[in-house]
Amino acid sequence: VRPVPRAPFEALEGLSPETWAAIEVAALEANDSYLTTFLEPGSFCPFSKGGRKRGQTARFVHRTESTEVEPLLARMLEVARDPSKLVIQVIVPLVEVEPAAWSAFCRALTEAGNDRLRGESPDGGDILAVAPLHPELPYTTRSPYSLIPLFRRTPDPTIQWVRNDALEALYRGRTGDTVFIDPAEVLSAVARPPAPDLFTRIAESNVKMAQRLGIAEVERTLRELAAVARERYARIVLGADPARGAVAVQGAVAEEPALASPRAPLARREGRVALARASELLPRVPVRVEADDVELIVVRGSEGLHVLHGRCPHRSASLADAIVADDHLVCRRHGWDFLLASGRSAGVPGAEIARFDAEIDDDLVWIEERSLARWRAENPVIEPYDEQ
Ligand code: FES
Repeated sequence: VRPVPRAPFEALEGLSPETWAAIEVAALEANDSYLTTFLEPGSFCPFSKGGRKRGQTARFVHRTESTEVEPLLARMLEVARDPSKLVIQVIVPLVEVEPAAWSAFCRALTEAGNDRLRGESPDGGDILAVAPLHPELPYTTRSPYSLIPLFRRTPDPTIQWVRNDALEALYRGRTGDTVFIDPAEVLSAVARPPAPDLFTRIAESNVKMAQRLGIAEVERTLRELAAVARERYARIVLGADPARGAVAVQGAVAEEPALASPRAPLARREGRVALARASELLPRVPVRVEADDVELIVVRGSEGLHVLHGRCPHRSASLADAIVADDHLVCRRHGWDFLLASGRSAGVPGAEIARFDAEIDDDLVWIEERSLARWRAENPVIEPYDEQ
């Protein structure tokens, strides 16, 4: 049995569970952006979209609170025993690691895991193949194969495991050829071919697509996705607004300021209630207001002002101290996120907070009293926040 490799990155200590939860949301969204703005529209991986829809892919975010590698290995053994998942990604945000060291680590980890699983594989072969993904993988344009690492430039270092048996079954229906390929050459779930011509076909079609888009443009797009993710992590780690106190910094968790009590409305006129002065709203700093027994937040995002219900639907924590980044609110308690523009969560399917139509008049932010009455009628009981 091959030894478990050492982690090629430092531990990131001192981040609170809430900060990690927010990072987790951001990492999954960064990965979503990679899939939905690059990989899938460009058809670089024909399996990606269908696999996601059929629930055959699984994604995890690994918290590098320590450099222990056993939890990653345990994750690998767990997913290897779930045949319903064909592609598994473990995203490792916020680590500083060179692409070569990352690739070597992913391969050594997978070899160690496959060794431990040896007795469970029907043919004694490897259960999972690995494709290391990293935002700076080196590539060249010399051949379709040497260009492959460009398409694997995910926003964060990521381990991608692919089930060998399921893919073999998948391809058995398409071709009778049998070839052995280096797992390192796995392009993606569907790009692990039993026949070299299929592999070549996919690699070549990717080249054509990359040439149509422009290789420099592909590189720029992927760099930008990684930069957006890094910036968002930085904002989460350092706090959305330093004036409000850092959420956490490496090595220490800073005091969070106590929540301000909700303000009362500033005025009422013709069935409308004024919640705040528009000119006093700082970008990304929610203001907490209570009007007609409904707790609200007023937030200035990049595209205007938003009035939203001020309690998180998860456990009813106040959203008055939520982190605002990229026009998302991220609840500090466990990291649920909500888009300012719709109130919907991008990270938690089905989760949503109410949004109230607002207008600015005389520098005041107004909403309809009727909309508050409607909200109260639909939500008669508000559970107090539960610290668990
Ligand atoms: S995410 Fe748990 S209370 Fe908001």
